[in-house]
Amino acid sequence: MAFTCMGKHSELPEKQGYSVKIGTNKIVLFRVGEHCYALEDKCTHRDVPLSLGECTATEVICPVHQARFDLATGQAKTPPASKPVKTYPVQIRDGLVLVDVDSPNVDSPN
Ligand code: FES
Repeated sequence: MAFTCMGKHSELPEKQGYSVKIGTNKIVLFRVGEHCYALEDKCTHRDVPLSLGECTATEVICPVHQARFDLATGQAKTPPASKPVKTYPVQIRDGLVLVDVDSPNVDSPN
């Protein structure tokens, strides 16, 4: 596991996508209160950035066809998306958001 620092937790916008490119990985961070979630920044229905979508307390909604994805698991909750989006392990340490970009969740391949 190689955690990469993405910035200060307190500086991430609340319930707004914050897109980061690490090598070939495009990742979107969503801060919801004290929690932070990291997902691949790509809807599994079409190649659309989820960072442009609306974030609720538990889901991100694709801006194009409104498929909903669980922030924690990446599972597609509503059509037209049926495949989950990758999620990444997140740690918050000393106020910093750390993401393991090398270890996407194996339960959510796309
Ligand atoms: S592009 Fe995301 S639901 Fe269609």
